[in-house]
Amino acid sequence: MNAEISSTSPPDHLAPVFAQYPIEVVHADGVWLHTRDGRKILDLYGGHAVAALGYGHPGWTRALQAQAASCNFQSNAVPMQVRVRAAEKLARFAGGSFDSVFFVNSGAEANENALRMAFKMTRRRQIAAVVGAFHGRTAAAGALTYGAAEKWYEFPRTPFDVSFMPRRDVSAIAAHVTQDTAAVIVEPVQGVGGAFDMGRDFLAALRQRCDAVGALLIFDEVQIGMGRSGWPFAANMYGVAPDMITAAKALGNGFPVAALLMTPRVTAALKLEGLGTTFGGGPMACAVVEAVVDAIENEGLMANVQRVSQYIRSTCTVGPVTGHQGAGFLHGLICKRPAKELQPELLKRNILCGTSGDPAVLRLLPPYILQESHVDLLREALLALG
Ligand SMILES: Cc1ncc(COP(=O)(O)O)c(C=O)c1O
Repeated sequence: MNAEISSTSPPDHLAPVFAQYPIEVVHADGVWLHTRDGRKILDLYGGHAVAALGYGHPGWTRALQAQAASCNFQSNAVPMQVRVRAAEKLARFAGGSFDSVFFVNSGAEANENALRMAFKMTRRRQIAAVVGAFHGRTAAAGALTYGAAEKWYEFPRTPFDVSFMPRRDVSAIAAHVTQDTAAVIVEPVQGVGGAFDMGRDFLAALRQRCDAVGALLIFDEVQIGMGRSGWPFAANMYGVAPDMITAAKALGNGFPVAALLMTPRVTAALKLEGLGTTFGGGPMACAVVEAVVDAIENEGLMANVQRVSQYIRSTCTVGPVTGHQGAGFLHGLICKRPAKELQPELLKRNILCGTSGDPAVLRLLPPYILQESHVDLLREALLALG
């Protein structure tokens, strides 16, 4: 067992696999976490990009309570209007190129189903992914996750071959995406990889190459999607159209739900019982999807993300921060000191940020309701770190 974990684990029955922050949250509202010992902490991390609406959002809470009271669960075999509405709303939110939505429970599961469709449609055996990618922990999603084999994969073999291409390198694409490639999967802005933006040229070149060799293009927008870029999806921001998008995290604002969005070409390849799930598309999950889309659209949250992320860029190149990367509220602060030293120092000053796979990048994933006054607190804390 990792020494850091064993020394910080509480004496309980939880599997000791997560290093624990030295705070205990007892309540949260808006962008604030309140701890057992009376501290008030500015949450710039949002529970790994989940708490998009912040904490205690009235519309989200009402929707969940109302659905729990009226019918907490029925499976996909039983038609329910809330499920129909959630799929319609999500497809429309994504901009109209997707005509079907398959609801599941986690980002990894959404990615697995996207891969299943690509293998079924092409009858090929390989996937191309990108250096630095994180796509989840299951056997297939872990196979697409860069460096998993060295860190935690543990399965004796991966279920298919994966070719990892360098980030943003248009000239490398052709060697990795060939007539044997079933699909390319890419995070348009990498999350765990360090809030790293792939750029329009690279993504457009992937689209072009997929079309040339007959491969499918999958955007994993589990972290950057659902308004976090300041657009519904990063696909909308870049103007590059994938065949499938996977979404999770912000999609439920804390209630577990994920989705696979499919274009008509993929939808046409579906057959009855070709995909399945028990919990996916449950009425409570669908009620929160509706509430999340409504809140993002009706409360102007994407405009807020664009404005406030620009404010972070223009005011927070101070203290240890030398630059910025990422998009919207998947924001990377490039630092001259190691992020893993700075993160606990900021937490002592009541600001919660994340680290990433890039040792020089502090990752910010705040709720979309963050305001300039909150960013001023981050700036002050960074200045104090020197
Ligand atoms: C881009 C991306 N894809 C997939 C996943 C996996 O999602 P989940 O943990 O819900 O399976 C994550 C989780 O961090 C992610 O960031």
